[in-house]
Amino acid sequence: MRFSRRNFLAGAAAAGAAPLLRPAMAVAQGGALTLTAAPTTAALIGGKWPDTAVWGYNESVPGPEIRVRQGETVRVVARNGLDQPTTVHWHGVRLPNAMDGVPDLTQAPIAPGGEFVYEFEAVDAGTFWYHPHVNSMEQQGRGLSGALIVEEAEPIRVDRDVTWVIDDWMLRETAEIDDSFGHRGQMSHGGRIGNTVTLNGRVPDIVQVRAGERIRLRLINVANARTFSLDFGSLRPQIVALDGQPVTPHEPEGGRVVVAAAQRVDLVIDMDGRPGDEVLVIDRYYRGREYEFIAIAYTGEAPLRDSPLDAPIALPRNPLTEPVPDDNALREQIVLQGGAMGRMPAGVGPFLEQGQYWFLNNLPDGGRDGPLFTVERGRTAVVTLVNDTGWEHPMHLHGFAFRVLSRNGKPDMRGEWLDTVLVRPREWVEIAFVADNPGDWLFHCHILEHMAAGMNGIVRVT
Ligand code: C2O
Ligand code: CU
Repeated sequence: MRFSRRNFLAGAAAAGAAPLLRPAMAVAQGGALTLTAAPTTAALIGGKWPDTAVWGYNESVPGPEIRVRQGETVRVVARNGLDQPTTVHWHGVRLPNAMDGVPDLTQAPIAPGGEFVYEFEAVDAGTFWYHPHVNSMEQQGRGLSGALIVEEAEPIRVDRDVTWVIDDWMLRETAEIDDSFGHRGQMSHGGRIGNTVTLNGRVPDIVQVRAGERIRLRLINVANARTFSLDFGSLRPQIVALDGQPVTPHEPEGGRVVVAAAQRVDLVIDMDGRPGDEVLVIDRYYRGREYEFIAIAYTGEAPLRDSPLDAPIALPRNPLTEPVPDDNALREQIVLQGGAMGRMPAGVGPFLEQGQYWFLNNLPDGGRDGPLFTVERGRTAVVTLVNDTGWEHPMHLHGFAFRVLSRNGKPDMRGEWLDTVLVRPREWVEIAFVADNPGDWLFHCHILEHMAAGMNGIVRVT
């Protein structure tokens, strides 16, 4: 089975223009949103295929898009309708440690039938998301995730603000979820890379746009493991934010928008084609496995305007403290190790037998017996991530946004802020952040099978 929409849908009635540009659900101000994780069904493929039994928030896959203004308080009552414990983690959001949703580290897991109230101020504007942090590979792999959009006080001017939650599913021919979660091969290789890609919970087909309009497109990769590299053809998207944090607007390198697991990319795209045109978006990440992600079809309507909107697209920066990588900074190194065909640290035989294939600084579950490192509050930490494996790893630090200082010793000219950095095989990346938020923070690979198989640890801020 292939995951291309054309192949997957071969023989099916054309799905038609799916509601890919659906409106957001706002949290009623002053009130709280209830988010219930529970089994439900979803028409992932459509056409003649049956609905898929999934786990969703509020019976929806992805869960409801939560939208607030910067500075507002997010209040969410999380209810557990699953038959196993869960939590909600607010990915990329800088919040108090107790609200971070990591079981047995920042809170007790929410038992079946139980609930937990999350409350925090949305200090940064940007594109964030939420997902469980218990048995993540299965809970997220069965559909639990959703977008959290924090609007700028004064947003940039666009005609439409659109969110694409991109997921990757491993389905059987019957459209049921393949339940081989935790399969040894997935754990020790590239993670659970599926066969069916969805956009906002549906195998994408066509999305309609109007000539001349300017769209802000928020890409969120909620897949367990898959990286995307979207080629927008003749369109010229400008990247305006990465992981929710503004960057100087620029075109993607090589024209491809790369989004690794858990990452977000905000684009501004001027639809500069003519009425009736069609542009194919191709995912080119895995060599020899390119496929058509979606077709962007211009309606027959007259162009909205004749020349691109003349308005700035640079976003205002968030209140982040600039790290100072000088002599006073703490310098640490974290070596990523293990995996299939990799060099194993000495003495890890017993761990391998228990299904722990990945290590940080020679330790499986590196932080559970003690942190990878401790840094005093307010100090700058400069951390070198050394990938000593044959696999790529999107490494995520909870609670902070960090600057990328260099890759393989070459300064990163954009100095972007990220919360999840893709470290390629044998690459080393230097990141820096100000430890301004106390607590024990998880640091892990966001390929969920790698995280479950040992690639996680704790960074302690005292
Ligand atoms: Cu998306 Cu540990 O998080
Ligand atoms: Cu990994």
